[in-house]
Amino acid sequence: MTTTIAQPVRLPPDIASEEGGDGGALALSRLALSDFRNYSSLKLDLEPQPVVLTGANGAGKTNLLEAISMLAPGRGLRSAPFAELVRAKKDEVARQWGVAATVHGPTGETRLGTAWSDPETAGGNGGGRQVKIDGVAQKSSGALSHHIRVTWLTPSMDRLFTGPAADRRRFLDRLVLSFDPDHGTRVQTFEKVMRERNRLLEQASSNGAWLSGLEQQMAEAGVAIAAARSAAVSELAALLARTGKASASGHFPWVEIALDGELEGQVSEFPAVEVEEKYRRMLADSRTQDAAAGRTLHGPHRSDLNVVHGPKGIAASYCSTGEQKALLVGIVLAHARVIRAAFEGYAPLLLLDEVSAHLDESRRNGLFDELVELGAQAWMTGTDLSLFSSLGERAQYLAMDDGSVKRT
Ligand SMILES: Nc1ncnc2c1ncn2[C@@H]1O[C@H](COP(=O)(O)OP(=O)(O)OP(=O)(O)O)[C@@H](O)[C@H]1O
Ligand SMILES: [Mg+2]
Repeated sequence: MTTTIAQPVRLPPDIASEEGGDGGALALSRLALSDFRNYSSLKLDLEPQPVVLTGANGAGKTNLLEAISMLAPGRGLRSAPFAELVRAKKDEVARQWGVAATVHGPTGETRLGTAWSDPETAGGNGGGRQVKIDGVAQKSSGALSHHIRVTWLTPSMDRLFTGPAADRRRFLDRLVLSFDPDHGTRVQTFEKVMRERNRLLEQASSNGAWLSGLEQQMAEAGVAIAAARSAAVSELAALLARTGKASASGHFPWVEIALDGELEGQVSEFPAVEVEEKYRRMLADSRTQDAAAGRTLHGPHRSDLNVVHGPKGIAASYCSTGEQKALLVGIVLAHARVIRAAFEGYAPLLLLDEVSAHLDESRRNGLFDELVELGAQAWMTGTDLSLFSSLGERAQYLAMDDGSVKRT
């Protein structure tokens, strides 16, 4: 395996002015779902503006955002098993789901499609997840990240700062993926090889040469992961610091973010090959401890993202529920601005599930203004249309009712 170190994204010098260019919006112009959760078949034509989805509880708002999130690599915004996404209906069992979209981005229009079919009943093609880009089948879903950049916020992330570090890492890695489309594949490779090493360590007489080979792969992937995270976080932290104190809107508190990880700390100071060699030796030296613990004790899978509420100078985990939400929104907006600047003027797609919950009216309206200014196709959900009244004609509105969607 070759090690590719993510280079810091080169930003135009005037990023501080937040002029990301006029590339337009990375936007879905068409979206089609088949047998996905509560949708048997759905086809939507869309404008590049923000999309507001309203409907009663259980109408299918989050399901639609989840379907869009499947157009990126990974398991989507609920991290649900693929089999769970197949439409389940009494007396009727669907065996596959599909999501297809036309995305307007810097390289023009691209058709993205992903589908999953039950491997047990798929027959010839083996089933599982399939991905097509402009009609061409891809070897892995990782290829999608070269065509779409998407970030999401869901109600379950309200506990991101107080919950386990793994959730913050997942959030961080999703942000990093927008900077570096190969990041997801590296994280997957690292985790796969680490699981293999853990399994090997469980055996009484494990093969030393085999372990060394796995540790070499872990060192290469691990250092590349740390470098990509470190590059992305320093870009983001710099923008947050610059805009924070002189925030364009002042609707969201400024945030200090920093990485807390063994490798991430080293990659910014030492050459990658040195960090790689050090980590490889560390893994070799800790085989006995790792075998006793039943897991790998050192590596990028133990890193964390530290977030501090700038004006108050306190850790995000001490902040109120509404404050935590505002911090998260602030990070996602700053990230979208950095990506817009680095990505030819295209802000990422934003999936904001019930984002207005916990935000007071002025913050809510401030958020809408910032989304419109960003030019992002932000998908927002809510049970109550009146929450979105200040958006007026700056958005398109879809009313959902049990798997069907009407434009209003
Ligand atoms: N695999 C599936 N097959 C069929 N229906 C499903 C499947 N998974 C979930 N559902 C149904 O989809 C419905 C809509 O869920 P969704 O989470 O999208 O609702 P929502 O509009 O976001 O509601 P809320 O306002 O409560 O968040 C639920 O009634 C759920 O039972
Ligand atoms: Mg929902």
